[in-house]
Amino acid sequence: MAQDGDGRRLIIVSNRAPVTFFRDESGGREHSRGSGGLVTALNAAARRRKGTVWIASASSDEDARVARESAGEPYEVEDLQVTLVEHDEDSYDLMYNRIANPLLWFVQHGLYDLPYAPDLGDDTRRAWKDGYLPVNQNFAAAVERSLEATGDADETAILVHDYQLYMVPQFLRERLGDEPFVSLFVHIPWPAPENWRVLPKFVREGVLRSLLRCDVVAFHTGAYARNFMRTVREVLGVEADEQIGVIRHGGRDVWARAYPISIDPGEFEELARGDAVLEQEEEYVKALPGKLLLRVDRVDLSKNVVRGFRAYGRMFERHPEMKGEVTFLASLQPSRGGIPEYADYAEAVKQAVEEVNAGHGTDDWRPVVLSMEDNFPRSIAAYKNYDALLVNAVRDGMNLVAKEAVVVNDKNGVLVLSESAGAHEELGEHTLSVNPFDVDEQADALHRALTMPAGERARRAEALKETVRANTIEEWVEAQLKDIATLR
Ligand code: F6P
Repeated sequence: MAQDGDGRRLIIVSNRAPVTFFRDESGGREHSRGSGGLVTALNAAARRRKGTVWIASASSDEDARVARESAGEPYEVEDLQVTLVEHDEDSYDLMYNRIANPLLWFVQHGLYDLPYAPDLGDDTRRAWKDGYLPVNQNFAAAVERSLEATGDADETAILVHDYQLYMVPQFLRERLGDEPFVSLFVHIPWPAPENWRVLPKFVREGVLRSLLRCDVVAFHTGAYARNFMRTVREVLGVEADEQIGVIRHGGRDVWARAYPISIDPGEFEELARGDAVLEQEEEYVKALPGKLLLRVDRVDLSKNVVRGFRAYGRMFERHPEMKGEVTFLASLQPSRGGIPEYADYAEAVKQAVEEVNAGHGTDDWRPVVLSMEDNFPRSIAAYKNYDALLVNAVRDGMNLVAKEAVVVNDKNGVLVLSESAGAHEELGEHTLSVNPFDVDEQADALHRALTMPAGERARRAEALKETVRANTIEEWVEAQLKDIATLR
């Protein structure tokens, strides 16, 4: 395994925090774990290097109180040093609900119906100027304060995460100059250059110029890194050496690197043995009749939930003998409900479930069971018991559900995996690979997965477990620390 980098102090910067605070009934301060796979992964990185500071947005009232009380100083919680940044509410709303999650997310996942959307104009300009930029400036200011306290900019690596914070590298350089090592990890797909032309010039050029102030721009797959270099060339006219993965620009080297994110298999194996999961398993998951088909996702257009239900319905049309033999548990966490497209999508999901249940269900069998809540123990209980897992994302940066689930599954379950999920680069050969737009192909893949002979299931399931165990979160962190030590 690689050595521990060169001992630089780490500052992690992400929109989501590792913890969120609230008051319990007696008025005492409590905290719970922040949501999302990104937070789980960054936790491993933060714990790897003592003294790491994690800077993130305050997201609850109690978070804001913590931010004010600590006045920029890190707050120690669960062995982590966390600095919460309080934003102006309207600015945050414009950043999150106007720029990051509809616009950038939709462009990078290819979700726009281009003849009709997006409709851009002065509103976008205002949301960029009054939302995205100030929120990104708040993060850069928090990093600057943290460095002022320690005075060791050249001994620090600042690891910025994701599309909510694309402008942070530029603001950091304006405040701190060239001394600190700066990287930005893009956790979502980086599409081909022509897709970026949907964005107004001030957004696409602003984002790219900011990213070129980094030492490393990181992605989950080599394909995303190559698309990034092509985008820089086509949009800004800046040449990249695609063979080595470096862009020489403004007197510095900017590396485009791929580090496929992963999970801590031990953590999931332990969770799988825990009481909360065992309870869900006995009381809920094992009570579902027949074979178990599973999906676990946020309710997000990129996850392709509606087509997944259509494919399942199509399977019953083609194979009526499957009726009553299987239950599809869809464990879907509500997400980004303040964005109209997401609210509409949640309705479309419910409608698609009703159609399958009305079209194929009977008095004593419901083909789809929809669980629309954030119930992590239930999801893990279902991971252990699925016969087939559907991950049919339109596009997905990586998709950690695929990795988490195969590690703890006890049933030699078959993974039906979108060829457009980042995880496909590593896991694809052991899965039933599907085109996320082809409903008939997905229907056939679901049928094949649910009827596959035992020997083939076992071989595939074992190969998936081995592949995930060979590249864990530990390797993900180590590869980045090694690059921090050697690339500059
Ligand atoms: O990786 C994509 C990402 O947006 C992360 O940044 C985030 O943790 C996760 O998906 C969930 O999204 P949100 O923070 O909008 O709930």
